[in-house]
Amino acid sequence: MSKKTRHFLRVSDLSFNDVEKLFQRAEELKIQVKKKKYAQILENRTLVLLFEKHSTRTRLSFEVGIQQLGGNAIVLQMRDTQIDRGETIADAAKVISRMCDVIMMRTFEHSKIQTFADHSRVPVINGLTNEHHPCQVLADIFTFREQRGEIEGKVVSWIGDINNMCSSWIEASIIFGFKLHISSPPQYKYVLEELDINQTNVEYFSDPLKACKKSSLITTDVWTSMGYEPEKKERLKIFKKWTVDTQKLEVADRNVVFMHCLPAHRGEEVSSEVIDGPKSVVWQEAENRLHFQKALLEFLIKANEI
Ligand code: CP
Ligand code: NVA
Repeated sequence: MSKKTRHFLRVSDLSFNDVEKLFQRAEELKIQVKKKKYAQILENRTLVLLFEKHSTRTRLSFEVGIQQLGGNAIVLQMRDTQIDRGETIADAAKVISRMCDVIMMRTFEHSKIQTFADHSRVPVINGLTNEHHPCQVLADIFTFREQRGEIEGKVVSWIGDINNMCSSWIEASIIFGFKLHISSPPQYKYVLEELDINQTNVEYFSDPLKACKKSSLITTDVWTSMGYEPEKKERLKIFKKWTVDTQKLEVADRNVVFMHCLPAHRGEEVSSEVIDGPKSVVWQEAENRLHFQKALLEFLIKANEI
């Protein structure tokens, strides 16, 4: 019987032990970058990056990451491929995965990446779907641990849209054992209800200020994610009270950090004072995508070659 290919489509695809190993490796790889000494552990390996949505950080961190490890990357915009002219996702996955060692995909519905992975011979990494953004959230937790130590037992506050990032935070909260306060306008509470989670460590707050009380990490994201642009005008009005501003940081733990996966819209989901202020670790967070994902590429490629 052939062995099962390991993919990373959502945070829950990894165990706590897997993540611990990845974080340790990411730390080592980060030191190598600072010394400009790169172990060529992925020599001759090819990463295909398949994009159906825009990206700055995800594309760059994966491309630079595989290059630093001795491999190479090929970027395919899905609109330039035959998928855009009706080739099925399953057929595309069968072909693409015969010509490379690992694939990262950024697309709309999560079901699309799931179908792609089901037909791929090589590991598939989720570089963001409408429902999940697992690479980002694990890089964020890696960043929290660097800045403040263990996240277990802490309060993390998610303020704003209950989107792909929020879903990945929910899954991470189980693995790492932190309390997750989610505050979103009551009109959007149904999104959380539809996720049908059965976790006592996740609590909904209609008041964003209450959700930030005693928090060690306050995090947010755009109010209108890619693919939801027709709702933008309405969302701008509904989310008004959910801007992460200094008032929200003031009720948090005094060691609180602020995170945002970026790109940010100052004056909407976060004030300039907060994102550019002393509690913000958004640039460290962006850089850590590189280190975490290099560890992930090595982990998945090597697991597939055994
Ligand atoms: N945070 C993030 O995934 O950024 P990009 O959309 O620029 O890749
Ligand atoms: N929630 C945002 C994240 C962008 C990195 C989006 O899906 O557009």
